[in-house]
Amino acid sequence: MLSCRFTILTAMLAASLAAAAQTSTTLKDAYRSSFHVGAAINEAQIAGTDARGAEIAATQFDSITPENVLKWERVHPKPGVYSFDLPDKYVAFGEKHHMFIVGHCLVWHSQVPDWVFEDGTGKPLTRDALLKRLRDHIFTVVGRYKGRIQSWDVVNEALNDDGTLRQSKWLKIIGDDYIEKAFEYAHEADPQAQLNYNDYSLENEAKGRGAIALIEKLQAEGIPVAAVGIQGHDSLDWPSIEQEDASIAAFAKLGVKVAISELDIDVLPPVAPGSADVSMTLKADPKLDPYVNGLPDAVQEALAKRYAALFRVYLKHRAELSRVTFWGVTDGDSWRNNWPVRGRTSYPLLFDRSGQPKQAFYAVIQAAARPGLSHGSDAIPIEGR
Ligand code: XIL
Repeated sequence: MLSCRFTILTAMLAASLAAAAQTSTTLKDAYRSSFHVGAAINEAQIAGTDARGAEIAATQFDSITPENVLKWERVHPKPGVYSFDLPDKYVAFGEKHHMFIVGHCLVWHSQVPDWVFEDGTGKPLTRDALLKRLRDHIFTVVGRYKGRIQSWDVVNEALNDDGTLRQSKWLKIIGDDYIEKAFEYAHEADPQAQLNYNDYSLENEAKGRGAIALIEKLQAEGIPVAAVGIQGHDSLDWPSIEQEDASIAAFAKLGVKVAISELDIDVLPPVAPGSADVSMTLKADPKLDPYVNGLPDAVQEALAKRYAALFRVYLKHRAELSRVTFWGVTDGDSWRNNWPVRGRTSYPLLFDRSGQPKQAFYAVIQAAARPGLSHGSDAIPIEGR
């Protein structure tokens, strides 16, 4: 009896996996009733020189984030000089395809030129002068896309791993309230935009606690923070399903939306655990780059299962999630090929280097169709389905 049931179940599972393999369902359609599914798009996709990548983005996703073109060093490279060519094309792409358009990012310690913090003679700016510069930047950039970019990552990565505030130049010159000021300016520039605090490793306890305290402080001061972006630069074993589940729940409890804002899952050997700072780049070493000739089936499958497990958590929290955005379109585009080690062959996304959907793609589609279906011991109960 039991073995008969098992056989039927196995047959059903095989049939549904086969159906998924044939599917023409897209990511955005599979999750339409739950949350937006987005991708960060790069310069080549925005400019149209990577037509294949742009086509995948337009077909599969209903939200976009600019991987680099709206970062300070790109959009505002010199005093008084703004470079809006690619950002304009970026926003037009999103509008053409009726997407939820994200702006990334206004205040960050990285990819911001040194001149921003200095006067004409190279001396550090005063608090007031830097606040004025910040306000001008935010008004110019957010103001240009008012009503068109729906959601802005206002402050990115302001916290250390222990939950304290990062000693960035922003903090050193302006003081702790640079965060409040950035949100105030962005809100003034576009009162309708959804404003986000965005960071990595928020699933870890100390940093998560720091982020919760920060959001509570902003809320107590009446700062309009609408969402927390959990970046989601994950690996096969971090964060645990329980961590992810608890982290989303903890932010949702504060009354803010949650965005999974930069999702990718690294399958390569970890280096220097404990730090996810973007400024970290380590020396290449063949031992750290084992899959230059392709990803073994077992790892492909492990990646698919891991994606399915995470998407089941996202579905559980679909009322609290605004979007799940992948950090890139295909594996070849991913920053993970160059971080934290330069020049590795990484496989963190749902589309391979030739633009073909991977097993992980079908697993994510499948998770939407059958969210309760177990993919192993890490399955969690899904409520409300
Ligand atoms: C990365 C881009 O993907 C790279 O192309 C760039 O060289 C460095 O930045 N956290 C963020 C993103 O908020 O902006 C970063 O993007 C990845 C980590």
